[in-house]
Amino acid sequence: MAAKLLPAGDDPIQPFDVTPVTISVDGTPMVGIAGQSIAGVIMANNRLDLRRTAGGDHPRGVFCGIGVCFDCLVEVNGLRDVRACQRKATEGDVVTTREARGGDSLSGPADSRGGAA
Ligand code: FES
Repeated sequence: MAAKLLPAGDDPIQPFDVTPVTISVDGTPMVGIAGQSIAGVIMANNRLDLRRTAGGDHPRGVFCGIGVCFDCLVEVNGLRDVRACQRKATEGDVVTTREARGGDSLSGPADSRGGAA
């Protein structure tokens, strides 16, 4: 099953007016909804990987979705090691993944355990 962003007019629930936000992810503009997490915007734009492990180069994306696993670490507006599942997307956010930064290691707990998370 692929993540998908429903156009506002096609959402059967239509709980309120939808305010779009546009963020940049590794230079690619992605449109989401105000209040949505950065991870939610990225997944809604059909991208599931947010980083790769240092040991084994395995792709990682949203695992817990509640801020516990640190599998979703990205850089947001120059601030490193932000959990994408916990940060609300705001208009103009610039999100950079580890691959886009050249693969340098992050300092979050997952990497401090040896990077094989
Ligand atoms: S997905 Fe687990 S901390 Fe974000």
